[in-house]
Amino acid sequence: MSTTDSRRKASKQTVSRRRFLENSMFAAAAAGSTALGMRSQIAYSAEKSGANGKLGVCVVGIGGRGWGSHCQEWLKDPRTEIRYLCDPDSTKEKQCDVVAERQNGVRPKFVTDMRYAFDDAAVDVVSNASSNHWHALCGIWAMQAGKDCYLEKPICHNVHEGQALVAAALKYHKCCQVGTQCRSNQSNIEANKFIRSGGIGTVKFARGLCYRRRKSIGPRGEYQVPKEVDYQLWSGPAPLAPLTRPRFHYDWHWQRLYGNGDLGNQGPHQTDIARWHLGIDQFPNSVITYGGRLGYDVEMHDPNFVDAGDTGNIETTIFDYGDKAIVFETYGLETAPLRGAKVGVIVHGTKGYLVQSSYDYSAAFDLEGNKIKEFSGGGNHFGNFLDAVIAGDPSQLHADAHCGHLSAGMSHVGNISYYLGENNKVSVEQLREQVQKIKSLDDNGATLDRIVEKTRKYGVDLERTPFSIGPLLKMDPKTETFMNHDQANAMLTREYRAPFVVLGPADV
Ligand SMILES: NC(=O)c1ccc[n+]([C@@H]2O[C@H](COP(=O)([O-])OP(=O)(O)OC[C@H]3O[C@@H](n4cnc5c(N)ncnc54)[C@H](O)[C@@H]3O)[C@@H](O)[C@H]2O)c1
Repeated sequence: MSTTDSRRKASKQTVSRRRFLENSMFAAAAAGSTALGMRSQIAYSAEKSGANGKLGVCVVGIGGRGWGSHCQEWLKDPRTEIRYLCDPDSTKEKQCDVVAERQNGVRPKFVTDMRYAFDDAAVDVVSNASSNHWHALCGIWAMQAGKDCYLEKPICHNVHEGQALVAAALKYHKCCQVGTQCRSNQSNIEANKFIRSGGIGTVKFARGLCYRRRKSIGPRGEYQVPKEVDYQLWSGPAPLAPLTRPRFHYDWHWQRLYGNGDLGNQGPHQTDIARWHLGIDQFPNSVITYGGRLGYDVEMHDPNFVDAGDTGNIETTIFDYGDKAIVFETYGLETAPLRGAKVGVIVHGTKGYLVQSSYDYSAAFDLEGNKIKEFSGGGNHFGNFLDAVIAGDPSQLHADAHCGHLSAGMSHVGNISYYLGENNKVSVEQLREQVQKIKSLDDNGATLDRIVEKTRKYGVDLERTPFSIGPLLKMDPKTETFMNHDQANAMLTREYRAPFVVLGPADV
């Protein structure tokens, strides 16, 4: 099915949140309270929902990030009160007691279905740290219900969803902050000013790095969904598929139905910084990815071992922006840092280079490698979101939906090239021949040789388990579509499972 067809199909399906309200026992109460989108134009400085003047927060997804960061940030900020915790895993309800203790006895309600919370006028802000495949639909439903939203990166699971979120934020005039918190850190803000003022000369090329050790998630098989999880809700827009990974939570990152691999997990932090520092505000002119999911058979001492993940753990993605370029390297096996960075960004200029080696530290060097300036300091990304919400001014956001869409979009188009080519296994020699032909500001051959060398050193037999290479996909950055490639265009969206349908930008 073409992209247009599947979008048309999606738009024909009734907005599921409205249907949900009509069908639910809450419908009568809801009809008078929410009036979908009607409250959306009013600045929250004049419209805080609670009697205590605080912004009511609903945290969606009480996992590692949702509990460890989102809940803790809202509990710390005197401007907010957590009024709902939402998770289809009912074991998370116990966290309500902890919140109550920290909120002087004010206990949030617990719901497994976010739509109940979105229909409550006591909720002003939705804070989402669910699995990636739910981010966009949650944000769109929240904004349709008149809430502002903080959505984790990647802001969307595919390009279509990013476009829909951008449209919804504009239509409902809501603050939609994406959780790329590096944007609020002083170190990156100052480094960006330095680069913009010519501190390392003219910048045209950046390399993003995700050298994060990712162990195997265990053998692919058929596993039992934990009985406490409402799997129908957890699956949401994705198909109701058998569980094929041993650990239910977190490891979905490495299964493409729900996650986006490390290119779409860690990637959106670094692709975002790279884009920001190079001043790129659009989709690339072309993209290509080569790599594989390799090394786990070596670690398991079993040549037949099949890991449950289906995203790449070693990937190199080359983004061409005409006169600028970005290369993103995902490397999930043990590896040494590159220019002092493992998870970071290296920006190359005509007079030097800058290395962002942690979220709150960057250093600039001259061409001889002498350090010329350091940038350090964190920030408060959640606080920036609240400032914008209270001012009723989305333009104050450090990372709005558009920003999140472009940075997540890089991961999505990179993954499309990878998925399209994953069966196109090639020898190292063939791969070198192919990458050397690709227009790039990088030395493509040298990058490949570096990756091949460390992968072989790890014990991976690249003759037996070779890398694959995807097609070089040309894009029209204006329409955010691929040129002359129906299969790739179809992958800009997904088949949604009603009623969890992300409508097109014109219909949100
Ligand atoms: N900004 C950052 O630095 C940062 C750091 C870590 C994670 N994250 C992001 O946070 C998100 C969550 O990651 P995690 O590591 O906490 O994963 P996790 O699997 O530990 O937690 C996800 C939680 O969301 C819940 N969930 C799934 N569908 C839901 C739904 N429909 N409604 C409510 N809850 C739902 C799951 O049951 C689970 O409890 C990911 O998107 C990840 O990319 C961001």
